Amino acid sequence: MRTIRASIIGFGSVGQGVAEVFLQKREELENIGLDLKVVAIADSRGAEINNEGIDLSEIIARKRETGTIASRQITGVEIIRNVEHDLVIETTPTDVETGGVGLENMLAAFGHGRDVVTSNKGPLALKYRELMDVAREAGSGFRFEATVGGAMPILNLAHDTLAGNKIISIEGILNGTCNYILSRMMEEQASYEQMLAESQELGIAETDPTNDVEGSDTACKLVILANSIFGMDVNYNDVDVTGITKITPEALILANDEGYTIKLIGEVKDDLIRASPRLVPIGHPLAVGGTLNVASIQTDLAGTVTITGRGAGSIETASAILSDVVSLYRP
Ligand SMILES: NC(=O)c1ccc[n+]([C@@H]2O[C@H](COP(=O)([O-])OP(=O)(O)OC[C@H]3O[C@@H](n4cnc5c(N)ncnc54)[C@H](OP(=O)(O)O)[C@@H]3O)[C@@H](O)[C@H]2O)c1
Repeated sequence: MRTIRASIIGFGSVGQGVAEVFLQKREELENIGLDLKVVAIADSRGAEINNEGIDLSEIIARKRETGTIASRQITGVEIIRNVEHDLVIETTPTDVETGGVGLENMLAAFGHGRDVVTSNKGPLALKYRELMDVAREAGSGFRFEATVGGAMPILNLAHDTLAGNKIISIEGILNGTCNYILSRMMEEQASYEQMLAESQELGIAETDPTNDVEGSDTACKLVILANSIFGMDVNYNDVDVTGITKITPEALILANDEGYTIKLIGEVKDDLIRASPRLVPIGHPLAVGGTLNVASIQTDLAGTVTITGRGAGSIETASAILSDVVSLYRP
């Protein structure tokens, strides 16, 4: 049995999902020879540390009851520097302007020879090459399936399952909030503002939806795809982005009359990286509804492979993180 000592830095929706999934899958993990011990957890107010392994049921309950897990005033980066462990699971908020605390945590982890699995796309959208170089020099594992498409396994599909294929292009819907708003505008023939309000009431859109609706969330994911799968060296500022805020119900009705729907499509091919509203034929594989994500990967050997799935959610995103952890350590 291989024991992996992990920290979870950021204990919100995704961090707690990871703890739940580790609890739920303990037996399956043991069956493949992995004993995952979470020795430290941090949120914005402090941390819990236990070298013997934190009781995950108790810590999830504590977070839900008191709003924090902090039993001592120590930050995530201090844990990364000072607590002996193998793997940092980085699930702090995304900051695409500076990389934020996530970037600091990742660099500290590599600086101490630790592996990183993350759902935090900001640092990767901004400093992809630097992070890859630092991880490689440190001999650290670095995986980030959860940053693009949540539970939809696009990075590992392209790298592992489609290994040997040339990936010619990827296009798809990578933001569930935009997809929900556009789908509902079409169904209800309602305005963007009305459906944004509905999606905020349902907790699908954030109070500040700018990153989603202006297309920058999609742009970050395209940058990760472009760098990781196409070997480009681009960052967030290289993406041509148009969001969905200007789309009217009239435009959707007109499109519908002609057999089309309008979707926020992200695409990467050759030198093009673009996120923009596009007409998609109704019934086309990319015309998925609700909050679903979808991606069509065009390859030279396998033809076009299309996957769809849940692009967000606590357990769904934790699923991608778990799969990265298993890929890193499976004996
Ligand atoms: N939610 C999803 O479905 C989803 C899907 C894919 C990717 N992601 C990405 O995954 C990451 C986490 O998302 P989330 O939804 O879990 O966010 P969230 O619910 O806002 O949780 C963020 C967590 O990070 C903690 N935190 C903030 N600043 C910190 C700091 N300086 N040090 C340590 N912890 C800090 C917060 O502490 P407090 O609890 O004290 O506030 C909170 O526990 C984000 O980068 C997001 O973009 C999310």
